[in-house]
Amino acid sequence: MLPLLVLSLLLVLGSFSHPTKTSQGGNLHVNNILKSSKRLSGYPPLFPEHKRIIQDGQVPYYVVEYAPLVHLYSEEKYFPCDIARYVDHFHAVFGNGSDVPGGQHLNIGALSKLNHYSAAKEGSEVYLMANTDFDKNPDYITGRHNKPKYINGEIEEAPAVLIVVDKGNGWVDAFWFYFYGFNLGPFVMGTGPFGNHVGDWEHSLVRFYNGSPIIVWMSAHGGGGSYFYKNLEKHYNDDKRPVIFSARGTHANYASVGQQNHDLPWAMLSDFTDRGPLWDPTKNFLAYTYSDGRITYANGSHPKREERYGDWLYFEGRWGDNKLPSSDERQKMVSIRVEIHCWTNWTTIKKLGPP
Ligand SMILES: *[C@@H]1O[C@H](CO)[C@@H](O)[C@H](O)[C@H]1NC(C)=O
Ligand SMILES: *[C@@H]1O[C@H](CO)[C@@H](O)[C@H](O)[C@H]1NC(C)=O
Ligand SMILES: *[C@@H]1O[C@H](CO)[C@@H](O)[C@H](O)[C@H]1NC(C)=O
Repeated sequence: MLPLLVLSLLLVLGSFSHPTKTSQGGNLHVNNILKSSKRLSGYPPLFPEHKRIIQDGQVPYYVVEYAPLVHLYSEEKYFPCDIARYVDHFHAVFGNGSDVPGGQHLNIGALSKLNHYSAAKEGSEVYLMANTDFDKNPDYITGRHNKPKYINGEIEEAPAVLIVVDKGNGWVDAFWFYFYGFNLGPFVMGTGPFGNHVGDWEHSLVRFYNGSPIIVWMSAHGGGGSYFYKNLEKHYNDDKRPVIFSARGTHANYASVGQQNHDLPWAMLSDFTDRGPLWDPTKNFLAYTYSDGRITYANGSHPKREERYGDWLYFEGRWGDNKLPSSDERQKMVSIRVEIHCWTNWTTIKKLGPP
């Protein structure tokens, strides 16, 4: 789910005001929690340059110990995907639709070479365009084989991505990124979906202070929600691990089951979560640390795999097709026009917010 979708919906619905963030029920932004002296009294501020406690390339054991488990929706049709396999089915194009030289056959390890074009000239953004019609629901879009194993929650063919960032003064952020081939948009007042797009990055964050989990933040519409770790549901069999819920189609992450409202009022735009298959991202993940704008390979679940995947994290293009022309029939008409936006721009994500 991307802010852009919410924004375009607001425009369509005739409201230009930015959605107000609610702050009830511990749903405060991490930022607010950290700034509020009452809520986090006794903790020093984040200060990335100060008193680092982890080395580049080092994932502290507690990051894995307290990693979230993710309940997918019981009737989910779009499952997590492996970015390496995913890009095999794409080629690179510019915004005007013309091919990027050398971008016919993509390889995860060489993706960031394409930055060369976007850096060279304004308006030369690079998009990944599916080689075949994604509307026919090919496997690389649905990831339909990538259901978590019942026995241990592993998704063998789709690694999660862990990025650990030392925020200084004892604070360590563990970002868990989840990649899905397709975002089936949410529903507005029973109609929809709105905002389908190819290539959907979601993430959650566990913020530790001296090795203890304090805050969990999860990506949802617009901003996302943050919670004190201690208030979150834990797995029945492992009381360290928080359980989060990935919404049907949009894969936005929530702390509970049920109907989840977006920023729009009166539950007009809703996500749904339930206790579908439980995904344990620690069974299969790529690991990196991030400091001073630099990514370092760390030790994920499969040793040496990070080297094989290369420096894809530096890719600045969009993980999906550019907006389809409005003449394209995949731009389905509902009461308002659904735009199949297909863009997740890693650079934006890479800011690794919230601050
Ligand atoms: C499309 O954009 C690229 C990159 O800006 C440019 O090199 C190319 O000439 C453009 N093609 C057309 C047909 O306008
Ligand atoms: C990396 O992980 C593998 C498998 O989990 C383990 O055998 C190895 O010792 C680890 N290496 C380091 C440097 O932590
Ligand atoms: C991605 O975001 C960065 C920073 O906001 C921007 O410079 C770049 O042009 C964007 N790339 C695309 C393909 O939109």
